[in-house]
Amino acid sequence: MGDSAAAWAKIRAVAATPLVTLFDQEPDRLSRLAFDEAGIRFDYSKTHLSAELIDAYVALAEAQDFAGKREALFAGKLVNNTEGRAAEHPAERGQGAPESVARAKGFHARMRALIDAIEAEALGPIRHVLHIGIGGSALGPDLLMDALGRDVDRYEVAIVSNVDGEALEQVFLRFDPAATLLVIASKTFTTTETMLNARSAIAWMTENGVEDPYAQVVALTAAPEKAIEWGVDETRVLPFAESVGGRYSLWSSIGFPAALGLGWEAFETMLEGAAAMDRHFRLTEPARNLPLLGAFVDLHYAVVKGAETRAVFAYDERLRLLPFYLQQLEMESNGKRVTADGQPLEIPSAPITWGGVGTDAQHAVFQLLHQGTHLVPVEFIAAVEAGDTLDEAHHRALLINCFAQGAALMAGKANEDPARAYPGDRPSTTILLDRVDPARLGALIAYYEHRTFANAALLGINPFDQFGVELGKAIARSIESEGTGGFDPSTQVLIERAFG
Ligand code: F6P
Repeated sequence: MGDSAAAWAKIRAVAATPLVTLFDQEPDRLSRLAFDEAGIRFDYSKTHLSAELIDAYVALAEAQDFAGKREALFAGKLVNNTEGRAAEHPAERGQGAPESVARAKGFHARMRALIDAIEAEALGPIRHVLHIGIGGSALGPDLLMDALGRDVDRYEVAIVSNVDGEALEQVFLRFDPAATLLVIASKTFTTTETMLNARSAIAWMTENGVEDPYAQVVALTAAPEKAIEWGVDETRVLPFAESVGGRYSLWSSIGFPAALGLGWEAFETMLEGAAAMDRHFRLTEPARNLPLLGAFVDLHYAVVKGAETRAVFAYDERLRLLPFYLQQLEMESNGKRVTADGQPLEIPSAPITWGGVGTDAQHAVFQLLHQGTHLVPVEFIAAVEAGDTLDEAHHRALLINCFAQGAALMAGKANEDPARAYPGDRPSTTILLDRVDPARLGALIAYYEHRTFANAALLGINPFDQFGVELGKAIARSIESEGTGGFDPSTQVLIERAFG
């Protein structure tokens, strides 16, 4: 860490230069900070990364053995040290240790065979797919279906995560139980919300005349024996490896509803798009490495400039769920206060990720971004090609607004009335897809995974565990079993008020 401290000292010593001045001082700025990769333009030029800062961050990456950690990730080493596991999501895309890639291919073949059987109506006339899962077992499939499934007329797919019965009941109202495939997605096959929702779905099928509801159940899990014990026939259990983390699992059998809903070809194309980003991340030099540069941006604002949040705005309805997906990916991975070897982290870890959809957000939260006292690095995501078939004025207006916001944040505008002045020099990154399709979305999601990993590598934390979610679960279990006894006075009264 001695070298890292020196690297941080160098980073902090770089004089702060306004964005507009950086453009003046560095005529080649755009060619060094905007790149086209896998059909996506990544433009970091409106961030404060200068040539000098990039060199300083590259030195930090060396001090933190970033390259060694990245190699360990792809080689299937135990990068999740606190749980003694590898993190083998790249193997799902064909990138990793040969035995892990072979195992993932085997699981994919099993998934594909079941999809073929369902398409051939071997499970009856399935039209509806009710996918039950939560967190990493729901957010990925939901994002994929929402982004890519709008014009696909194959199956109607509903993804239910919340234990609030309101969510499930809404689906019961519109689905035909006899034509419904019930997909239970849980890496552990123990998550209480998922198991309760799954039991209620079985009850709904039974109460509505389905003789053998279990014959219409598919399980997606890394604990196949638990799914079988629960009642799922072994032939309809689609396993994935324990070494694939929940929030990194949409490439595995957890992606089943998307593979079924979009078709196998689309799913495979998405994997190929992700593999292209894997290769870029693995092989590209630091100063041109997109996920690594993204991590430099994140760290610079979080650690050096004290930004507590970063905001992601999708200027495309099809990507409206991306901020939610990124919240789990980034915050569950890097929301840590100790390093991988258990020492207190002395600098801030992941910023809080939040965001929304443009242009809606402009009329709600952008006031603070332009004139508030908080520094919020912004990320704009848009696509050149429209998803709609209306007058092209719509998509044109969408993109113009997106570009205008980034320009305005950077340029600012003086005014003698302070209330009307824009300070400017506010950073943004723009990610512009040629179009929203399986290959580009796969590459984009893989880009964010690797950026999250790069952040963790530079901070020296383990992005692959999530012990912080356990305490609340344990207390919920004891409230369930012990009722009102033994809790703090506030919690006790709340329990009494709700349950008598
Ligand atoms: O509680 C958090 C978490 O463990 C996430 O990491 C995970 O994605 C989610 O719950 C669901 O877990 P499972 O897939 O085991 O049901």
